[in-house]
Amino acid sequence: MVAQVIDGKAFAAKVRAQVADQVGKLKEENGITPGLAVVLVGEDPASQVYVRSKGKQTVEVGMNSYEHKLDAETTEEDLLALIAKLNNDPDVHGILVQLPLPKHLNEDLVINSIDPAKDVDGFHISNVGLLGTGQKSMVPCTPLGCLMMLRDYHGSLSGMDAVVIGRSNIVGKPMAQLLLGDSCTVTIAHSRTKDLPDVVRRADIVVAAVGRPEMVPGDWIKEGATVIDVGINRIERDGKNKLVGDVDYASAAERAGAITPVPGGVGPMTIACLLANTLTACCRANG
Ligand code: GUN
Repeated sequence: MVAQVIDGKAFAAKVRAQVADQVGKLKEENGITPGLAVVLVGEDPASQVYVRSKGKQTVEVGMNSYEHKLDAETTEEDLLALIAKLNNDPDVHGILVQLPLPKHLNEDLVINSIDPAKDVDGFHISNVGLLGTGQKSMVPCTPLGCLMMLRDYHGSLSGMDAVVIGRSNIVGKPMAQLLLGDSCTVTIAHSRTKDLPDVVRRADIVVAAVGRPEMVPGDWIKEGATVIDVGINRIERDGKNKLVGDVDYASAAERAGAITPVPGGVGPMTIACLLANTLTACCRANG
């Protein structure tokens, strides 16, 4: 079997066009422009790239982008004061604090200081609890993008066996909740899982989110399964710098029914979902 490629880049462009359309209507009919504030502390190069890309796409869909770049030594007090200001700013509908934060800052404390209604990352403990109990919440962007692609490809996911490899708060855990919400039978696998190849071989849906380059070989994939590769890993190969996923794409594509490429799969969907969440937050704030 040669897998169908799930084109996340094209799907994300469609989502952004829908968001832009809604933003246009909001402006025209209500005089409201959604605003997203992104806070970056320090100079992590990968984070700088993400933040730049988020700002650019925010403006492209017609929203206001507010970037706050703080130096690596910023105190917790100053960061919390900035978040309090953004919480109280009616022009800011979404707030994202780029992770990871420098070690001296308490990530949980910082995230939980964001107004849950503006928490477009869906990381605030209230949103985590709402998602876990199947209530209306802000849903983390990467798992939301994965779910949208899975629903688009399959229609209903009901009754499917899904394996999520990775148990992070950002991807693995919320992904498992979303799949459970769509009536999949869900297994969360991680570094201590016994017989990982056998666990993966049982799955109709595999979501790989471990951050280890090409750790899932094609022979772990059940014939016809759908593979969603969340990994974005930079490696050196043949003297070149290359981006690869957590799945060995070439061998997995020979067995899977459908697969997301890296780059061009999950990555573009994450930012598209961030824009969609910002629009949702703005609509909820304005009744
Ligand atoms: N760092 C890596 N992924 C993310 C994300 O989805 N949100 C934030 N805030 N930081 C990240």
